[in-house]
Amino acid sequence: MTQALKQHLIDPEICIRCHTCEMTCPIGAIQHNDDNVVVDPDACNFCMDCIPVCPTGSIDEWRVVAQHYSLDDQFGWEELPEQEAINTLSSDAGAEAMDPVVVALLNEAHKGAGGKSRAPKSAAKPAINMYTIKAPATATVQGNFRLTAEGSDTDTRHIILNFEGQTFPVLEGQTIGIIPPGSNTAGNANLPRLYSVSSPRDGERPNFGNVSLTVKRETHGLASNFICDLQAGDTVQVTGPFGSTFLLPEDPDARLLMICTGTGSAPMRAFTMRRERIVGKKPGGMTMIFGARAPEELPYFGPLKKLPVDLLQTHMVFSRLPGTPKEYVQDRMMVERKSIAELLTDNKTYIYVCGLRGMEEGVEKTFNSIAESVGTSWAELRDTMLEQGRYHVETY
Ligand code: A2P
Repeated sequence: MTQALKQHLIDPEICIRCHTCEMTCPIGAIQHNDDNVVVDPDACNFCMDCIPVCPTGSIDEWRVVAQHYSLDDQFGWEELPEQEAINTLSSDAGAEAMDPVVVALLNEAHKGAGGKSRAPKSAAKPAINMYTIKAPATATVQGNFRLTAEGSDTDTRHIILNFEGQTFPVLEGQTIGIIPPGSNTAGNANLPRLYSVSSPRDGERPNFGNVSLTVKRETHGLASNFICDLQAGDTVQVTGPFGSTFLLPEDPDARLLMICTGTGSAPMRAFTMRRERIVGKKPGGMTMIFGARAPEELPYFGPLKKLPVDLLQTHMVFSRLPGTPKEYVQDRMMVERKSIAELLTDNKTYIYVCGLRGMEEGVEKTFNSIAESVGTSWAELRDTMLEQGRYHVETY
């Protein structure tokens, strides 16, 4: 029998070349050239550290091969090769004669890595990677509205896209890629940038299937300026959808604790709208702690204030209110520690953290001290919650 080898690969049609995997790999097994990001088969030890950090899932590709694809092979690919037929990997042709090692490797390969985070058990099955860099969907802009007060330092916008009859199924919590037109200084076409959808699956307007995004203009941001300047009627190229873990449980009794800053509120808006449409009011069912500099800079401030507390218990916390001490989301968590401790004891609780990377540490520390105060180990509880798809963090 020919020896079968497992190989970790990256899908060049989906990868957005953000290089997060490369920065995460503890042994330097991932590298890139101007075209592709690739995995060195002689170095990769399948530690899986790169899997959960990839925003598109393009990292989660596996093949069983008789001989590894070289780095040069991978640098030259425009698309991934198909899995070789089993009988070409084994000298005894035929499925019956299949080498058990090959079978085990294939099973493992197709299982995916799983990563650390999991989807909630009752979440709907997401569609992923339907539209790629080479074959994107085209969406028409239906609206572009400023969410932050005119004159405030932050220009955050609500963008509504319509796929005009193309199938683009997207679940709350998923992201899509927007391709800014043109090319970079090296002459390569611009790559997509990812944005969380802020509308529920049946559309910004129910049953219209249109999709909204929450986008903050960054001073030198190529994509964010392109998107924030879009006018109704303009068209954009879209890839995705992406993401198969940061999803909403379908269980109507699930309780959500959502902690976010700035545009990290996008998936929380989608979750809230979906639950409002499907479950309706349920006291204690949804709590959100949302941090911004000031009310003028908090996206959806007006609509959020109007939501009944039986639907969503909202805590808006501000860091730059004149004459008031700075407050961060983790400070409010401490103020609300009693109700958070109660949520932590309920195995129907799902936690979502989204926004600035910097808040992750403070939020974790605060969960740790709240759990400790009621005699629970946060490290153990977090592992259980991750395992059960009940703890989700997406920061940038
Ligand atoms: P600040 O920038 O006043 O320190 P942004 O407006 O940049 O999107 O940030 C959203 C909010 O997150 C702001 O109120 C910002 O406060 C706050 N923030 C910044 N750093 C942290 C952190 N390490 N933990 C929690 N919140 C933070």
